[in-house]
Parts: sequence; structure tokens; C-alpha cells
Amino acid sequence: MPLDEARISPLDRGFLFADGVYEVIPAYAGTLFRLGEHLDRLGASLAAIELANPLSRTDWTALFNALIEQNGGGNIYIYLQVTRGAAAKRDHAFPVPPVAPTIFAMTGQIATPAADMPDTTPGVAAITLDDIRWSRCDIKSVALLANVLMRQQAVSEGASEAILIRDGFATEGSASNFFIVKQGVIVTPPKSHLILPGITRDLLVELARKHGMPVEEKEVTEAELKSADEVWISSSTREVVPVTRLNGHPLGDGRPGPVWKQMARYYVDFKRALCGL
Ligand SMILES: Cc1ncc(COP(=O)(O)O)c(C=O)c1O
Repeated sequence: MPLDEARISPLDRGFLFADGVYEVIPAYAGTLFRLGEHLDRLGASLAAIELANPLSRTDWTALFNALIEQNGGGNIYIYLQVTRGAAAKRDHAFPVPPVAPTIFAMTGQIATPAADMPDTTPGVAAITLDDIRWSRCDIKSVALLANVLMRQQAVSEGASEAILIRDGFATEGSASNFFIVKQGVIVTPPKSHLILPGITRDLLVELARKHGMPVEEKEVTEAELKSADEVWISSSTREVVPVTRLNGHPLGDGRPGPVWKQMARYYVDFKRALCGL
């Protein structure tokens, strides 16, 4: 239906409590990218908040494909949100008996990713901030106030992402995972409750292994982040983006690095092969 005809109750628990989870799934030339992985993570997020998955994999797939078709195909992303629905009264505890969950999905355009223009992209600026979030960052929850505040601080300081520091270690970006490169070795933090298990992160690790690029999943200290030769951020809509300024200082020589350029080529090749571009 047209977006301005969609209606959600003000008693929806997504609105009142941010009691819900979401996914963002890219589609290139109309083909959903890493759909199986996104549906696995949706299932894990729903299980973590004890909300039954309202649709089968087949039904989710049919819904997304219909949305893509109705929105003209091309390079778009699906935003999907599932909340615990609207109960008759506001109460923190789950409604008894359960009410129908609210499912909302829409599409949006994907801007041309940096990996598609490796020789012209200038990279982006990032700042470091204290990670002020809770301890279940592995759940893709719609409760994003901390992420919103941290991203806004980055934007206010002329940067496009905040890389978050918890107890001296870098965790992830406000809406991305991150990688560093030091002396040719690619490093990204291991999966834990403190980061979102990024689909793009996993793909980058997979591509590095497949192509024999040295890659390690281990903790990255704030000092290692700041002295890295290269820093990248990754997400489903931005793919893999080089960070060329950190806290106002150039990173490395201030330009996208050679390891990023190589990875960007592998990423774009993978995407083209998978989506028949
Ligand atoms: C906090 C956070 N970490 C990591 C990511 C990257 O995840 P993915 O690659 O699955 O999009 C996102 C994506 O929006 C995010 O919000």
C-alpha cells in the first residue's frame, strides 16, 4: 500500500517500548542479496526477544519479492520491522494472551556504494566515542536511541560514522562493523553480545579467506584502531567503505588503502556474479 496509507496503533509496543526487531536486506538488479543469512539473523533476533517468527522463510521471501517488484526493482533495500503488536493497555510485561505482531516492510534506494568507485571515492571521516549501549548489541533491536545519539554526534563533528569504544576496545560503528588493516593483516573483532553479527562483516571475512588475504577475528584496542594502516566500515547498504580520517586526523596517508581496493574488487565481483549483473 502507499506509505501514507499505512497505519500503526499508538499502543504498538514498538512505539511504546521499542519492543521489536528489524532487518535491512539489499537487492541488486531486483535480486535479494544474502537473503538466507538475513532470515537466519531475523530468526535469532526474534528468538532472543521471545517473539514467535510470524512468517515462514517462503512467505518472507514472497513478501520481499513482491515489494521489490512493486517498487520497480533495481538497487534497493528492504527495511523490515516486527514488533510485539498493540495490546489493550500499556504494560511492560508481554501481553497475555499474546496479540498479533506488527509487521512493517518498505523499500528504499541504495546510493552508489564506495566499492563501485574504488578509484574516485575519497573515503569517509569517523570519530571514536564511548559505547554507551546495553550488553545485547547482538540483537538487531529497534531500540536505537544510543546509536542515534552517537551517529548524530559524529555528524555534528563533520564525520559520517562513530566507532565505539568499550573498556579500551573498539566494538563496532553506530550502524556498521569495522575492520582494520595492519601490516597487510585484516582484523575485525570476534562476534559476541557486544556487536551486531553483520552479514557484510561475515561476507568480507569469507571473501578474504577465499582469496588468501590474511584475516583475523580478534579484539582491537583503541590504540590499534588509531594506529592502523587502514580502517573500513561495513554494512548492508554501504558495503565496505574506507575510513580516511579518524578524530580529525588522516588515517595512513589519508586515502583509501590498497587492501581496501583489493577487497572492494572482490566484493563487487561477488555481488555481480550472485545477482547476474
Ligand atoms: C550496530 C550495527 N552494527 C553492524 C551493522 C552492519 O550489519 P549488516 O552488515 O548486517 O548490515 C549494522 C547495520 O545496520 C548496525 O546497525
